[in-house]
Amino acid sequence: MKIIHAESYDDLSRKAAEIIAAQIKSKPDSVLGLATGSSPVGTYKELVKMYESGELDFSRISSINLDEYVGLDGTSDQSYRFFMNDNLFDHVNIDKSNTNVPNGKAEDRDAECSRYNALRSEIGPIDMQLLGIGENVHIGFNEPSDEFIYETHVVTLTDSTIMANSRLFADPADVPRYAMTVGMETIMTAKKVLLVANGAKKAQALRDTVSGPVTPRVPASILQQHPDVTIIADAEALSLIK
Ligand code: F6R
Repeated sequence: MKIIHAESYDDLSRKAAEIIAAQIKSKPDSVLGLATGSSPVGTYKELVKMYESGELDFSRISSINLDEYVGLDGTSDQSYRFFMNDNLFDHVNIDKSNTNVPNGKAEDRDAECSRYNALRSEIGPIDMQLLGIGENVHIGFNEPSDEFIYETHVVTLTDSTIMANSRLFADPADVPRYAMTVGMETIMTAKKVLLVANGAKKAQALRDTVSGPVTPRVPASILQQHPDVTIIADAEALSLIK
């Protein structure tokens, strides 16, 4: 794993955006694996700036997002589809029909998981997977569990994830209890993985990712087995790594 030290959140965002921009320039029809949450917001802002200055062209880019809350559709401002439109897709020349987020409103969730899972071979493999990391060390919504789950699946969110994400909801009781997430296969078959993390709350998670045993109790530890992982993090997030 390669670890890049960022001086601040802005610096982290610039560095991450530069890596993604280099990917887009070297392969204009790249398939990007994308994440939501607070961590990549600055990265998306930087990518939008690069697009606006004429440096980047998203017209041939496809994307596969990691996850979506069950029960929310793209018009809900808490949905991850809404987040992606709002933070990136509405501001660049990506063809939205080439962007993929699980359908949280699907009536047949198993069928939706199978459809979504197949994307990694139909339009993938992902060229570059952008990840955040949960305080409980989840990637996507692959929560700590007894075994790694490789396929796209419906997950019951842990109390820790519900608590962490409640900051984004008016009432913590509104946080959905279930989500659909790509499994570890989609993430691990990505050609490159770029993980961004900032703040002291992520310090233990990063330490366990980088130097702990590989175990499904620490989902991101599986990244130790990926050949091309770059972590960009600030001093607080890196504070427990020697
Ligand atoms: C988001 C996702 C999650 C987040 C993680 C960190 O699509 O899959 O794994 O990356 O929960 O969230 P933030 O960045 O809000 O701390």
